[in-house]
Amino acid sequence: MDAEYVLDTPVVRGFIADVQAVIADASSPADACERIRPRFARLLADADWLPARYQADAPQSGMGGGIGQWLLYRAGDGSLSLFALVVPPGSQTPVHDHLAWGLVGLYRGTQDEEIYRHDGGALELVEERSLAPGDFYALIPPRDDIHRVRTTSEETSVSIHLLTNDTGCVWRHSYDEDTGETAPFRSGYVNVDCEDEAGGT
Ligand SMILES: [Fe+2]
Repeated sequence: MDAEYVLDTPVVRGFIADVQAVIADASSPADACERIRPRFARLLADADWLPARYQADAPQSGMGGGIGQWLLYRAGDGSLSLFALVVPPGSQTPVHDHLAWGLVGLYRGTQDEEIYRHDGGALELVEERSLAPGDFYALIPPRDDIHRVRTTSEETSVSIHLLTNDTGCVWRHSYDEDTGETAPFRSGYVNVDCEDEAGGT
């Protein structure tokens, strides 16, 4: 499969080219994340590159609560994706993991995030953080990989995810908050199918 630039603009192409060059040259995921940071900060600070349709609630999404993932770019081999996660006011994601390293940052609205550790039994809350536009962090599993996101603003929050898998299409896990029990979880994307979905690409 070829790379998909769903949002095919010079900004997105330039960003992805820079990221891929860094990844190819990096000695580790931590090294890559560190070197992508300034570039990612610039993308988050740019108010003009993300069209309104990719910041809109997704009532038809399988994630419920109007939550949705809008795919912007993915590599043909599933090694990288860029997407916007929209979470309407009052909505929260299930507790979930990502199974890939990358960077996640807030573009619009505000969010509270709870990060958990899971050693097989109940979930252990290890950190709570509040995010405002421009805030971002590196995610390097297993550290910080299990979390839940809740919108605290009166507008839909939009976070930008750059992760080294096809996050919407891989099978990952959701977690029962009380028991820690896991279930297979695939979020999908609002605007594209996964390869093995009916009518998929
Ligand atoms: Fe997440």
